[in-house]
Amino acid sequence: MSDQTVYLNGVYLPLQDAKISVLDRGFLFGDGVYEVIPVYSGHIFRINEHLTRLDNSLKAIRLENPHTTAEWLAIFEPFLDSSKEQYFYVQITRGAASKRDHAFPEQVQPTVFVMCSDIKPFEGKVSGVKAVTLDDTRWELCQIKAITLLANILLRQEALDQGCAEAILIKQGYVTEGAASNVFIVIDGVLMTPLNNGAILPGITRDVILELAKRNNIPCSEQVIAMEALESASEIWVTSSTREIIPVIELDGKPVADGKPGALFKQMDALLQNEKKIS
Ligand SMILES: Cc1ncc(COP(=O)(O)O)c(C=O)c1O
Repeated sequence: MSDQTVYLNGVYLPLQDAKISVLDRGFLFGDGVYEVIPVYSGHIFRINEHLTRLDNSLKAIRLENPHTTAEWLAIFEPFLDSSKEQYFYVQITRGAASKRDHAFPEQVQPTVFVMCSDIKPFEGKVSGVKAVTLDDTRWELCQIKAITLLANILLRQEALDQGCAEAILIKQGYVTEGAASNVFIVIDGVLMTPLNNGAILPGITRDVILELAKRNNIPCSEQVIAMEALESASEIWVTSSTREIIPVIELDGKPVADGKPGALFKQMDALLQNEKKIS
């Protein structure tokens, strides 16, 4: 299928023909959720985990899942291309009501949108990236993959404006996650990531890394991480489905350890590349 074809409410059509109402609650209120699902050589990675998280996001905003797993798979199938790495962007909003009103409208069909893009190699993966710590200004329901991303956008842009690739967010003195990623650090050989306690998005890449660490006897723990711990970390990574694992080599203008991607990053990245092939 051409790159320019998207799925909207039961129809596959060219991107430029995909239109929604200005009364769509996604447009008016950011009233919707989304998923980003990677595809490797035509195989959808961790599909059950992504669809479970989508279901959890929908439940959290009190919106019924418009499709069964089989229906979602049928929607995805025509986009799959075994010759490349792709990702699905899936968005569901509460739909377009007849007037703008905060209260949930009655008898409104949700808007379902799916597009599929190529995963482009991210150069910072090899060289490592700079990051900056910023105050986590987001709301308290960060476990929902909500389309309402204004705080994340402002935080990522602030990081970019400071010459960095990502913001590492700090809430009341503790690390939460990145503006669009989860965070891992290594201290004394132990891989650590903040708890999944509502202050972070439960990243699928995060779960895969924890699983790979356990399977390969790499000491790891989910725990509270004080901001000061970042200074004693020998490695810092940010992780997400489209960028995988990105080593942070400089934080707040200071090098992380020797300022080069660390040994555990290289080991984990190799494990992840293998996992992409076999699962
Ligand atoms: C705020 C936030 N946290 C974490 C992640 C990583 O999640 P995943 O590994 O499922 O892509 C993302 C992904 O975009 C994100 O936006």
